[in-house]
Amino acid sequence: MAVSALDVHAIRKDFPIYDAHADRPFVFLDTAASSQKPRAVIDAMTTYYETTHANVHRGVYAIAEEATARYEGARARIGRFVNASSEREILFSKNVTESLNLVAQSWGRANLRAGDAVVLTEMEHHANIVPWLMLKEQLGIELRYVGLTADGRLDLSNLDELLDGAKAFSFTASSNVLGTLNPVRALADRAHDAGAIAIVDAAQFVPHARTDVQATGADLFGWTGHKMLGPTGVGVLWGGEELLDAMPPFLGGGDMIRDVRLDGFLPNELPWKFEAGTPPIAEVIGLGVACDELERYGLDNIRAHEKRVTGYAIRTLTERFGDDLTIHGPLDVESRSGVLSFAFKGLHAHDISQVLDEAGVCVRAGHHCAKPLMRRLGVGATARASFYVYNDEADVDALADALQRCGDFFGL
Ligand SMILES: Cc1ncc(COP(=O)(O)O)c(C=O)c1O
Repeated sequence: MAVSALDVHAIRKDFPIYDAHADRPFVFLDTAASSQKPRAVIDAMTTYYETTHANVHRGVYAIAEEATARYEGARARIGRFVNASSEREILFSKNVTESLNLVAQSWGRANLRAGDAVVLTEMEHHANIVPWLMLKEQLGIELRYVGLTADGRLDLSNLDELLDGAKAFSFTASSNVLGTLNPVRALADRAHDAGAIAIVDAAQFVPHARTDVQATGADLFGWTGHKMLGPTGVGVLWGGEELLDAMPPFLGGGDMIRDVRLDGFLPNELPWKFEAGTPPIAEVIGLGVACDELERYGLDNIRAHEKRVTGYAIRTLTERFGDDLTIHGPLDVESRSGVLSFAFKGLHAHDISQVLDEAGVCVRAGHHCAKPLMRRLGVGATARASFYVYNDEADVDALADALQRCGDFFGL
């Protein structure tokens, strides 16, 4: 078993929310929806607002230049965090949903025609389905889906067939419901062998493990800031410079142009070509500091820690509840993340979540923005616990105790 070097008690001191709830039980198990924020990120954003706020790329006075330097400095920082070869490859959006819409509308409209195929998987979040369904309505493209195995992995048995003639393969690096970690490099290679580009939704991956975008083999790779200790309101899209250069702008307006006349415009160069209007300046600065914090904890330590806590959760829940509890997705921690969706005693996930809340245990209940996957699993909703740097085995015990009470409460 990997040894985790994270000191959870010390880490919790970095997160003011634990202090704010110190007088009652507070077991936050919903990082997959959004992580908590460390003091360092909150302070960086406050300091920016208090000392150097001005719009970026415009003013020539001192604080405007300082704001631009901090914003562009954070871009370089975030680029280093995922090993981008240049900050020109790092585009800011408001979340990964917008990053994937950018891909569909910019790359898709420029490269796809009626009848062209795009391959997705049945475990995608709506953010990686709906933009393509919209393109299907707009252009008449064909969508094909990689199915799932009984234990919640991708069924790759007919991938060659699905990729045959396809123009793009867009898939999640890690499922927000099943926890499944997909073999990104191998899938990207398969896409390329078939002549398709590889697009990765890494919302549930980048916060939890060391990421090297170049090593993934992906062409376009998006994620979201608020699940990795950063603020809400900022997402990222990474892409190789050549591909991004060839893609037309997505949104039009200020900042994304070099020149505008009454009858046309000249787009700006990368990365600003894709950043129309005033960007999320404080949020990008906060996200840069989130990268510092994650590296201070150590991405390998984070992965090892999550494997340990997740393994403990699987063993504990299985031992305590046996057949009364079903965990969706693979059960071995090597091929899953710290996202744990489950069904319990036939109860509705919302009832579970509500009773758990009375014990201060915060879990997500619902379809997790993955309705096609819910249909595939034959359920309307699941309860989902997810673990991060501030969770430990005591949180798992609190979850199990609260589940026990939940069963008692409903007389089951
Ligand atoms: C796999 C996956 N993709 C996309 C998203 C959408 O993230 P956002 O709402 O930040 O755009 C999520 C968030 O739940 C997710 O888990």
